[in-house]
Amino acid sequence: MKKIVLAAVLLMAANSFAADIMYLKRGVVFNHLGHQTEKVGLCSACHVETEGTPGKIPGLGKDWAHRTCIECHDIFEKGPTKCDGCHTKK
Ligand code: HEC
Ligand code: HEC
Ligand code: HEC
Repeated sequence: MKKIVLAAVLLMAANSFAADIMYLKRGVVFNHLGHQTEKVGLCSACHVETEGTPGKIPGLGKDWAHRTCIECHDIFEKGPTKCDGCHTKK
């Protein structure tokens, strides 16, 4: 039974547009789907495409992430703002 459920979950993940959960550097587990809510805001909170659908983020990396991710968590007073809240690995 568990196996069937897992297969269904994997299939849904494979079919979706972008990965629901993304594994970024230094053990950051980023719930992409969980950030695509009205509460968090629009795609443009992170994606800056002026036309077409969002995709890769050109400046993705430490500086972009710390600015974008931490700033928003500060504003919402939700989501991690401390190093080990995001980084599960050194
Ligand atoms: C909180 C930040 C954030 C929000 C909000 C967000 N995304 Fe993303 N998205 C990312 C990050 C980070 C990546 C990984 C980018 C990379 O690998 O260059 C990504 C990647 C993607 C990709 C895959 C690019 C690829 O080729 O692998 C797609 C498609 C995408 N996002 C669509 C969306 C859409 C549509 C929305 C709005 C409904 C959205 N995103 C909202 C952060 C976000
Ligand atoms: C536009 C606002 C916004 C941006 C940008 C944003 N977050 Fe968040 N994040 C939130 C909010 C709001 C929550 C709390 C969600 C809740 O409690 O329902 C959260 C929760 C989290 C959590 C804990 C819960 C979970 O989903 O795992 C992690 C980890 C996280 N964010 C990582 C990131 C990373 C990494 C980035 C940058 C790539 C990022 N966030 C960018 C708003 C944002
Ligand atoms: C809100 C989540 C979040 C918090 C809090 C956070 N980081 Fe990050 N950090 C990230 C993300 C996302 C990246 C970019 C990962 C990528 O490029 O794949 C990153 C990148 C890095 C990198 C570069 C890793 C590499 O190999 O390129 C270092 C070093 C780093 N962070 C250290 C820290 C330290 C030290 C703190 C605390 C002062 C901290 N981070 C707090 C999310 C966070």
